[in-house]
Amino acid sequence: MAAHRRPILAANWKMNHGPTAASAFLASFLARYARREDRTVILFPSALAFAAARSAVAERPDVLLGVQNIYSAEKGAFTGENSAAIALDAGAGYVLVGHSERRHVFGETDAQSAEKVKLAAAHGLVPVLCVGEKIEEREAGQTDAVCVRQLRAAFAGLPVETLRDAIVAYEPVWAIGTGRTATPQDASAAHQAIRAELRALAGDAGAAIPILYGGSVNAGNAATLLSAPGVDGLLVGGASLEADSWLAICTAEA
Ligand code: PGA
Repeated sequence: MAAHRRPILAANWKMNHGPTAASAFLASFLARYARREDRTVILFPSALAFAAARSAVAERPDVLLGVQNIYSAEKGAFTGENSAAIALDAGAGYVLVGHSERRHVFGETDAQSAEKVKLAAAHGLVPVLCVGEKIEEREAGQTDAVCVRQLRAAFAGLPVETLRDAIVAYEPVWAIGTGRTATPQDASAAHQAIRAELRALAGDAGAAIPILYGGSVNAGNAATLLSAPGVDGLLVGGASLEADSWLAICTAEA
């Protein structure tokens, strides 16, 4: 996997945009977003909109695709789930792992996140591991400890060659979908703690793993967050759903 151009701008559409809306969104976005060498754009459509998104970006190798989830087993009787192999076959290059909605709405454990990272790597998908603290953990001064625990749980024991290709997203749970964005200082402080742990886990390779910020990013705050020290890109939910605001984020200058 070649090193990513930075910043990385990633859109997590969550349970929005079916195939029809995904196609319309991409027709509008791609007509106005010219290929740029100084950044990486990745979209995470819903599993059922993936094929529509894939065909919409067929002529745009600069716009990359990932899936929002895979199951923590290779294959088998897991009705409703998708595996790393299925995601790869469908054309995904990336997979979100440990997103706070998976952890807190669906009860995904650190152990399951670890399994998903392993399966993703084994199949050549780049895992985008999401970590971040809940508000009560922040208020108790546990932000760094929570992020470090989640990183270690998912990454400890993996070979450096695997970790080298991973991406991390710092997404404080209290900032996701709330309109309450972390300050650039808060983001930088957490990114610094995450960076230190990545170095501890993977040495020099850990110094190069991109760390994205996510949580109520919008067209108005993207540039400021991108210029915060240690922020290598953005993972955007709500503001990635509308082509105009996503275009503004994808063209934001740090
Ligand atoms: P948000 O979501 O931008 O709507 O806060 C971010 C995310 O959950 O990845």
